[in-house]
Amino acid sequence: MLKVRELYKSYGEVQILKGVNFDVSQGETVIIMGPSGCGKSTTIRCINRLTEPDGGQIIYKGCDLLELNQAELLKARQDIGFVFQNFNLIDRLTVFDNIMLALYKQDTLSLTDKEAVVEDSLNQVQLGDFSNRYPQDLSGGQKQRVAIARALALKPDLMLLDEPTASLDPILVSEVLEVLESITANQNRTLLIVTHELDFAYRVADRILLMDNGKIVEEGPPEQVFENPTSEVGKKYNNLIRDH
Ligand SMILES: Nc1ncnc2c1ncn2[C@@H]1O[C@H](COP(=O)(O)OP(=O)(O)OP(=O)(O)O)[C@@H](O)[C@H]1O
Ligand SMILES: [Mg+2]
Repeated sequence: MLKVRELYKSYGEVQILKGVNFDVSQGETVIIMGPSGCGKSTTIRCINRLTEPDGGQIIYKGCDLLELNQAELLKARQDIGFVFQNFNLIDRLTVFDNIMLALYKQDTLSLTDKEAVVEDSLNQVQLGDFSNRYPQDLSGGQKQRVAIARALALKPDLMLLDEPTASLDPILVSEVLEVLESITANQNRTLLIVTHELDFAYRVADRILLMDNGKIVEEGPPEQVFENPTSEVGKKYNNLIRDH
């Protein structure tokens, strides 16, 4: 479904992505891990061109996203959900309206259909009773679950999540991970998640991609990557798991 080929990105003189290559198949949950600053966010943001790469290909359902014009890109993004580390909710809108706003381009849906989609998305993240709240009246974990519901509302074939639990209080991390785990259990959904949560990655990933210094240095199922690593980064994760 997604093929990333020879992705390059520099900021000024500094090369951040140095030829990133990987595939994601329909229905897979793929987790990207690696040390801070190695280029994980840059990679995942390049996929729907929140960051413009300098070179490479992003083949999504057979079409190179890097060759799309702005209108075509906006259309493609309707099929690719993105969840940010810092939620990106709109403070002056209720939870309900934050999600409705994501549906404004879905002109095949009636207002009643849209309302039903919002309700359904909120139920999927266990926030069915929170429609009328404002973001300021939610905990960090609840805010992130609203952001996940907003991404789900578009029924995207691919969801990209960049450290969805990184800005949360440790006690709130598990409620978001539980919601994500239930989402990954849906076989039709394809997810690409950047996270530092080892246990979560071990449980839910079909495949782990380890990144180091602008490249994918190792990939495989969690048992292989964490227990029989070949890369330096893989060996560091292996030590962490042993100490655990
Ligand atoms: N807009 C930017 N301008 C200049 N440098 C940037 C920009 N965005 C990222 N970088 C640099 O690119 C490198 C990779 O950043 P990136 O955010 O992709 O890392 P990461 O792997 O997601 O790290 P973390 O785990 O800390 O989130 C870092 O050295 C960062 O400082
Ligand atoms: Mg990052």
